[in-house]
Amino acid sequence: MARTKIAEEAVAPEAAVLLHRISQLVTMSGEPGARRGRQMREIGVLEDAAVLIRGGQIAAVGTQREVLRNPWLREHRAEVIELDCRGKVVLPGFVDSHTHPVFVAPRLIDFEKRLGGASYEEIAAAGGGIASSIEGVRAASEATLADHVFSALRQAQSQGTTTVEAKSGYGLDATSEIKSLKAIRRAAQQWPGTVVATFLGAHVPPPEFKDKPEKYMELLCAEILPKVARQKLAQYVDVFCERGAFTLIQTERILREAERHGLRSRVHVGQLTNTPLSTILAHNPLSADHLDCLEKADVEALAAGETMATLLPGANYFLATKKYPPARRLIDAGAPVALATDYNPGTSPTISMPMVLSLACTQMRMSVEESLTAATINGACALELGERKGSVEVGKDADLAFFELDDYRELAYWFGGNHCAAVMMAGRFADVF
Ligand code: NIG
Ligand code: FE
Repeated sequence: MARTKIAEEAVAPEAAVLLHRISQLVTMSGEPGARRGRQMREIGVLEDAAVLIRGGQIAAVGTQREVLRNPWLREHRAEVIELDCRGKVVLPGFVDSHTHPVFVAPRLIDFEKRLGGASYEEIAAAGGGIASSIEGVRAASEATLADHVFSALRQAQSQGTTTVEAKSGYGLDATSEIKSLKAIRRAAQQWPGTVVATFLGAHVPPPEFKDKPEKYMELLCAEILPKVARQKLAQYVDVFCERGAFTLIQTERILREAERHGLRSRVHVGQLTNTPLSTILAHNPLSADHLDCLEKADVEALAAGETMATLLPGANYFLATKKYPPARRLIDAGAPVALATDYNPGTSPTISMPMVLSLACTQMRMSVEESLTAATINGACALELGERKGSVEVGKDADLAFFELDDYRELAYWFGGNHCAAVMMAGRFADVF
């Protein structure tokens, strides 16, 4: 599979493409919906496999021999672009279901303070943290922010990601939150992958509301959220429910407002301290994210419900927290688990899903198969895209990632490098570099 050949030939959206002699294809095929418990280990690996792509979708998938018997292919073989995928592991493109890409600068001063021993919360209380990204976002134009988002999307793509959820949350006033969401939309229009926008106006009360958080709640609920909903700038609403951010009561109010505007929600919760989940889960959020601090009842509630438990070990790594989220307890109890990068300048400056796989396996004792399920089909389900994305099955979008590897387990084994050779999004190869 020579790279030049991909770039030149497989660019027309209407082109039919046959990927053949794939060394290992991770299909992730299975029952529709999020995978739980033992299902998370069943990833449907095929060796010497082939995939036929037509009209941007998967038209046939199986072993080489099975796919070559496809009646349409037999009749039209001459018109089909064929790519030899020997020496490649192919999998559904990663679905990164939690990122914060709308910021302009890294937080190097905070970073150095942390290296000197200060904690994330101490830095935030002293005016660093999220507040220090606000100024840059407020001063930047929509076009500049869109450039930053686009560059993050390209970096994600270079590591095998084809679907990204992107949150606002560093503007924290009406103008800057709307500008941030428009920047996400603008970047998404230039990128052939899929982007889902989430409104995170409830990230923290901004500095001008530091002593009157209720006033910021009022602004959020009465002005910003209704505007975002009216202009259809976001598909979801997120809240950071945490000490120093929003209380459980405030979180509930925002969840209710989101519901009133017909928007489903997602929640940052249990990152630094435990918040009992039952009240939040009663609002049926699509995902509860972080979950470092969980009690037994919370694990049971997640196992009994539909909310995706989204774990973000990049944040634990970067903040060097002693404990990672209890992935084993969650999976063993039957909760659906997804993995995402949490790409942001304060707690997780990585957009690499392979790095997240490595962390999930080595630090949280997830199996490689569980981590791949969490990074593909379960991420897709967390974004209500489970019917279109996250597995290589007939009728789904042809979003694929190609790695120069022989065995899928190597995806979580090599860390800190990049083995992704190419991605295909809706049936089209994107040149990677
Ligand atoms: O998911 N927890 C809240 N928000 C982000 C990052 C906040 C930041 O920018 O520092 C997170 O970790
Ligand atoms: Fe986050």
